[in-house]
Amino acid sequence: MSNEMVSPASEIVTQRNYWNREVQDFHSIYSHQKSKFATFLDRVFRKDMYERFVFTMEKSWPIQYRNFLDVGCGSGVYSLEYARKGAASVTGLDIAENMLEICRNSAQREGLADRCTFIHSDLLAYDAEKTFDVSIGIGLFDYISEPLPVLKKMRQVTSDKAIMSFPRLWTWRAPIRKVRLALRDCPVFFYTKSAIGSLVKEAGFADYEITKVGKLHCVVAYVNHRQPQQ
Ligand SMILES: C[S@@+](CC[C@H](N)C(=O)[O-])C[C@H]1O[C@@H](n2cnc3c(N)ncnc32)[C@H](O)[C@@H]1O
Repeated sequence: MSNEMVSPASEIVTQRNYWNREVQDFHSIYSHQKSKFATFLDRVFRKDMYERFVFTMEKSWPIQYRNFLDVGCGSGVYSLEYARKGAASVTGLDIAENMLEICRNSAQREGLADRCTFIHSDLLAYDAEKTFDVSIGIGLFDYISEPLPVLKKMRQVTSDKAIMSFPRLWTWRAPIRKVRLALRDCPVFFYTKSAIGSLVKEAGFADYEITKVGKLHCVVAYVNHRQPQQ
């Protein structure tokens, strides 16, 4: 599949540097390798990180024997869970090498490496050799200044549905997060529900649902129209 679009190079460099630096802090949110107080703060202020995981797994059903693409896979929490649940294959893409090292080590340790491939690439530069039943972009669009080409590429490489999270614009946390991350040289972007709907349609998805999950909009975008429920 050809790559007609490219991500802004400076954005990739900024994001790669930021996530290579932040790898241990980020992974410890999931692994709880923090003080009790820091873990408590994460549970309160990052509650939606756990909720979006539950949402994504529920909406990914069925998982067994299907092929998954995890864009911005980070330390591999979603990829590894798909593999544990019997996915035929999981491909994780990320631009931060340090994240991918955690993914590969975890997959080896758990005996899942034969069904997991972790690739150092931005989605727009990735030359997919196959399509995926399900693609996900969780905690990804926060860091993408031009989401439309990324959504179009997800549409292009997906045969069933794409599952994504977008941070909501109108929350008390949005301006605080914007300033906090700007000070650490990491631009962050926020979205309204209507903007997400327009982007998903323009990207070529036939149908979609948007669910408010804490301070996020979680989205399932379908390649084909859904059958009406009986
Ligand atoms: C907040 S982490 C989310 C990781 C994982 N999806 C999760 O929710 O646990 C964001 C990840 O997206 C990656 N990333 C940012 N921009 C990217 C891009 N253009 N292409 C691929 N990965 C990207 C970062 O390197 C980082 O590992």
